[in-house]
Amino acid sequence: MEEKPSYKKPEGQSGEKLLDIMDHEHTPIALWSLENMEVKEDDVTLDIGCGSGLNIKRLYEKSPKAKSYGVDYSSTSVRKSIMMNRKDVDEGNIVVEEADVLDMPFEDEQFNIITAFSTVFFWPDIINAFKEVKRVLKSGGKFFIVQGINGNNNCQPHGDKGNDEGAVFYNDQEFKNMLQEAGYSSVKCIIRKVQENKKFVKTYNSEGYSEELIIDNFKDNMNEEEKEVSSEWLCVMAEK
Ligand SMILES: C[S@@+](CC[C@H](N)C(=O)[O-])C[C@H]1O[C@@H](n2cnc3c(N)ncnc32)[C@H](O)[C@@H]1O
Repeated sequence: MEEKPSYKKPEGQSGEKLLDIMDHEHTPIALWSLENMEVKEDDVTLDIGCGSGLNIKRLYEKSPKAKSYGVDYSSTSVRKSIMMNRKDVDEGNIVVEEADVLDMPFEDEQFNIITAFSTVFFWPDIINAFKEVKRVLKSGGKFFIVQGINGNNNCQPHGDKGNDEGAVFYNDQEFKNMLQEAGYSSVKCIIRKVQENKKFVKTYNSEGYSEELIIDNFKDNMNEEEKEVSSEWLCVMAEK
């Protein structure tokens, strides 16, 4: 019988196929959030829940003077990430490890930038996971969480699928509270919202929040595929 593909832990042949589909689905939100991340060319990066490994590649392109790492608890995701980055893995520029976010095989204070794209809604013990991320972050390092606000990460409305798998979708305020509880020094959230045919970016920080209008007639400027995209995306930045 055909295995049921899982977004929470993609495994086997169906998992491999789903990782390809996710690359397509998640590319718009990944590219948008990467624009919001300041990554220096010598930053050591780690992508947690790395899936196919495409975001490890994108991060390595931004920081080619340091190693880039990926971690995932699915052996299928790890294998796929190694295949995706074969040359740089062989040359020692990219390292991919199989591990749970709660117990990562890294020294303290190893990374400048840590990312988690469309994965934290599956992390069960989230405060302890955020503490484990903080352990491996350098002082002043940044942790970015990226996801669709309602669970629709991207182009395809598969939020219900996520819920079937026990996903929990936090909003920006909940992330801010949990990250502060885990000991991060500052938290900022950027929200992309298609509202009344306009594009907004909301920025929350310790001084409060501000809302900025980026484009009027937003949907008129989109191609057909972009019009399918879920209306709210969140990029949370927490600093150690
Ligand atoms: C929905 S996929 C997203 C993959 C990729 N980040 C993307 O944006 O396309 C979620 C990934 O997170 C991984 N994952 C979920 N919970 C995890 C955990 N507790 N520790 C490590 N990886 C986890 C899954 O195995 C899967 O590869």
